[in-house]
Amino acid sequence: MRILTRDIGEHVGKEITLKGWVDTRRDHGKLIFIDFRDWTGLAQVVFLPNNKELHEKASVLRSEWVIELKGTVQKRPEGLINTKIASGAFEIAATGLTILSEAKTPPIEVGSDGLDIGEESRMKYRYVDLRRARMQKNLRNRARVFQMIREFFAKNDFVEVETPVLSKSTPEGARDYLVPSRIQEGKFYALPQSPQQYKQLLMASGMDRYFQLARCFRDEDTRGDRQPEFTQLDIEMSFVERDDVMAVNEELLIKLVKELYPEKKIQEIPFPRITYKESMEKYGTDRPDMRNDKNDPNLLAFCWVIDFPFFERTDEGGWTFTHNPFSAPKPEFMEDLLHKRNIGEILTTQYDIALNGWEIGGGSIRNHRSEGLKAVFEIMGFSDERIQKNFGHMLEAFDFGAPPHGGIAWGMDRFMMIMENEPNIREVIAFPKTGDGRDFMMDAPSDVSEEQLRELHIKITKKEK
Ligand code: AMO
Repeated sequence: MRILTRDIGEHVGKEITLKGWVDTRRDHGKLIFIDFRDWTGLAQVVFLPNNKELHEKASVLRSEWVIELKGTVQKRPEGLINTKIASGAFEIAATGLTILSEAKTPPIEVGSDGLDIGEESRMKYRYVDLRRARMQKNLRNRARVFQMIREFFAKNDFVEVETPVLSKSTPEGARDYLVPSRIQEGKFYALPQSPQQYKQLLMASGMDRYFQLARCFRDEDTRGDRQPEFTQLDIEMSFVERDDVMAVNEELLIKLVKELYPEKKIQEIPFPRITYKESMEKYGTDRPDMRNDKNDPNLLAFCWVIDFPFFERTDEGGWTFTHNPFSAPKPEFMEDLLHKRNIGEILTTQYDIALNGWEIGGGSIRNHRSEGLKAVFEIMGFSDERIQKNFGHMLEAFDFGAPPHGGIAWGMDRFMMIMENEPNIREVIAFPKTGDGRDFMMDAPSDVSEEQLRELHIKITKKEK
């Protein structure tokens, strides 16, 4: 049976089988040492010269070869314990070796944290890059966070519902990714910027409490904290007010930190709240970094930012929403919204959550009556026809008995970046895109055949060089 390196201490004196990679090989004249690696860590293996055939076989091993190894677990003498690796108190005296896969010289090294290696090489050979301990840790911790989120919501009567990825263009501030339809000539699906409309329609369906670890797509310039596709923890709840949504989120965030990152300290509980106005005046940003010690990598300063203006002026002198067109105004501004007066003064129920200077989430209580939502679009200068064409389905749904509801979405990649003390979100995503939106490993985006384009009724007009 295969043993993992983390468990070898339980097999002292016995012969075991390990399967994994050669991390490094060192020849010390008669002795050959291998640092053997599996997903749980490293183990030191020694090949003695007395078994000539085995010794010769070991002498050809190179880094990143995949091997099956048999050997006897021995305790290392006191002075020779390697404190740098978890299994450093033990050594395996090899008794058998099968080479499962040879490897060319790796294009990038995997022994270091990799932060000094050029992005292009790391992305092109991402499957090698992900072998490094830091990336293994990040992806495994991400999975543990996702797992705990699912458990938390299941216990609290939330239903996990998948919503479509082939959808319709929505006005959420970013540019949509479009997918041409083959069957409906000349028409396009849009990839969702978030499941916003679907989750509200699920409230109209009586689902009561919904969550999803949802993939979102936004065609915007990629940055350290932005990817064209990213993952939200998306939440929506019926019959709630602002404080109910904030309370559930706060409870979950505290639980995740305490149980999965016990070395970290939350600066203030309950999370402080600051108005947009105060935040802009005091910190010059709407995602303030409230840490009282910015050198401490384990300090987490969560804060809620509330009372955002609902609308802001466009360059053309009209109005547009600041956050989310589906939000309700604060109750005391509902009359102003419905009568379209004092527009610049209307505050929204929007709440954002900031962590150490990053916006990690945002949400609001929604307009659940059609006249409220319609007023938002009218203030933005949309014609009746356009409102019906783009949002008729939402207005109609609200006219068939929709409960009051509200929700939020967290940016999971940003959250994981901060929890893992990483400099950008690519370090916590298995296969991210580069700054110019490319996947070097798959070579995407790529050309497609003339025939594919013909089927989609699309003609490429190349830019003149
Ligand atoms: P919003 O647009 O604020 O809200 O998105 C929620 C959170 O998602 C993260 N985020 C991103 N992360 C990585 N790359 C991106 N390109 C990117 N864009 C956003 C941020 C942000 O706080 N439907 C609403 C939520 C709601 O009202 O319920 C929404 O999508 O951390």
